[in-house]
Amino acid sequence: MNTEQARARIDQLTEELREHNHKYYVLNTPSISDYDFDMLLKELEQLESAHPELAHENSPTKRVGGDITEKFEKYTHRYPMLSLSNSYSKEEISEWAARLEKTIENEEVEFVMELKYDGVAISLTYENGELVRAVTRGDGETGEVVTANVRTIRSIPLKLKGDAWPSSFVIRGEIFFPLEKFEALNKQREADGLELYANPRNTASGTLKNQDSKLVAERQLDCLLYSIYAPEQLVTNHYDGLTHASEWGFKVPPAAKKYIGKANSVDGIMEFISYWDEHRHQLPFEIDGIVIKVNQYDQQERLGMTAKSPRWAIAYKFKAEAALTRLNEITYQVGRTGAITPVANLEPVLLAGTTVKRASLHNADQIKKLDIREGDYVYVEKGGEIIPKVTGVELSKRPADSKPHVYITHCPECGTELIRKEGEAQHYCPNETGCPPQIKGRMEHFISRKAMNIDGLGPETIDQLWEAGLLKNAASLYQLKAEDVLPLERMGERSVEKLLEGLTASKERPFAKVLFALGIRYVGETVAKKLTKEFKTIDALQAASLEELVAVDEIGDRIAESVIEYFAEEKNQEIVALLREAGLQFEAEESEGPTSALLEGKSFVVSGVFTQYSRNEIKAAIEANGGKNVGSISKKTDYVLAGDKMGPSKLKKAEDLGIPIISEQDFIDMIN
Ligand code: IVH
Repeated sequence: MNTEQARARIDQLTEELREHNHKYYVLNTPSISDYDFDMLLKELEQLESAHPELAHENSPTKRVGGDITEKFEKYTHRYPMLSLSNSYSKEEISEWAARLEKTIENEEVEFVMELKYDGVAISLTYENGELVRAVTRGDGETGEVVTANVRTIRSIPLKLKGDAWPSSFVIRGEIFFPLEKFEALNKQREADGLELYANPRNTASGTLKNQDSKLVAERQLDCLLYSIYAPEQLVTNHYDGLTHASEWGFKVPPAAKKYIGKANSVDGIMEFISYWDEHRHQLPFEIDGIVIKVNQYDQQERLGMTAKSPRWAIAYKFKAEAALTRLNEITYQVGRTGAITPVANLEPVLLAGTTVKRASLHNADQIKKLDIREGDYVYVEKGGEIIPKVTGVELSKRPADSKPHVYITHCPECGTELIRKEGEAQHYCPNETGCPPQIKGRMEHFISRKAMNIDGLGPETIDQLWEAGLLKNAASLYQLKAEDVLPLERMGERSVEKLLEGLTASKERPFAKVLFALGIRYVGETVAKKLTKEFKTIDALQAASLEELVAVDEIGDRIAESVIEYFAEEKNQEIVALLREAGLQFEAEESEGPTSALLEGKSFVVSGVFTQYSRNEIKAAIEANGGKNVGSISKKTDYVLAGDKMGPSKLKKAEDLGIPIISEQDFIDMIN
């Protein structure tokens, strides 16, 4: 393909992919299969990497992330980002409406009601139809530039449709975590033995400020837009403005789903509010209220603003839904990692559309702080958190004979004395190898799809095998015989055969999966892959020092310490030895290896943001040419490959150690 043909195909693919993106993520009406979409995207990626100069700045391939932001630049908003004043009742809304009428005399005032999305505000600037900047709210005057991350949010257009938009304008909206994606993320974290995220809002906010845009892309955030700022508006009111924005490709609240409404009176406003107060839990994202706005721009202008918020808009905040019910008993749960969670067992009560029987009490400090006792009447709330929590005690209903709760000192499952590490709120049961829920939890992780993927074995069978005394640890699975399993309930010959076949097949699982399956704290799938690639064998990994571990790209102290702690335990060494004896893979298969030896023996630290290739592409090129990527600069580093915005401390360290600092172009020249 010559350059002209490549250009034409790149342009065509870019356009087609944009259209598919819009249909899928903005309109929710996909027109091709995911597979076909991926094929087109792959083709575009290949063409762009062969002809980087032809790639569009806002190409759909940029959606998958890859750019790393070392430090978010500050940016002063062209229009300050104000907040809204809050109201909590019909009276307050009526007072607000009455105040408006003093300024807007003898004119109809039309109101627009929208959902108040519970996420993070974002300000997007478009110039000549292309996204040029995305900035967080910050303090309202100055925010942080998070463009690389925002590009990965598929419902935000990188290039606008048509040509009827102002040549330069700002559009604002809320970035949020769709509930389904948030729950899936927490499920994955649970499987990886990581702490769960508390609520979608904070997680969206943390994600948006993550330095790795690839991670942001994986999280699949979404965005709904709610206001447009242009030097000259093309329409006379807010509602029509949003309709326009929708034509340009933005995701705005769909009227068909009642995400937006119009009213001419306080009663009309209240109708919208009551509807959503009742139905908000059916939404695929969280809202914390309703925003009411004066529709006409000229009326908005006359109303103006106070120091903090516009007079033409107000938020109605829903009350956090709370219920009062009796706390019958405090029990304790032991997780896979041994963490103890106190649980309130409640008299069942209806809350936000579901019956609640249990609520989290978090930890010992929380129980003490609120002086929560068995037999108390407690307030239970579903705030931003998914799991309901106890927020207070109704002291007037406290029984006369009530006694302060005494937190347990020993594990409710195995009786071992609990420990509490300095600076941590949670108590732990340290009996990793003898405490049933910990063993069973680890075993469930071991057999799970992303780990050993053992067909014919699920959590219920693990339970049965455990009850029958057939399991001590993961290695016991490989010692199971048909005659041990056959007597168990619901275990026919066919299921036993399937289980044994599944176990045999799992012996072919590659080392990275086995390492992940061991359930070492903080060693998730990606970390397991990195470690196997670097150390190749379990012996080498087991022998690695802290320094050697942290020298691996993207492995920090926390992970390194956890790996060292794991292998220091004699019981873990035993399990590894037994699994090895059973025939599991503890060595990485020879990978395809480098295709050239140009950079053999050379180690690189790659840092900053690059223009021609993504950071990951550069790292892949280093490895393909026989070089090695390392995480931090040391005397042994051969080159520091510096992109834009590389942190000053890294630069200084490289200079101090006299390590050559090369640019992206130097590197490209080096390998060509
Ligand atoms: S309009 C002058 N509309 O609520 C402010 N804001 O307290 C104009 N928010 O930071 C904001 N949903 O992030 C508006 N439909 C909506 C909204 C909304 C959520 C957030 C926004 C802002 C905060 C105001």
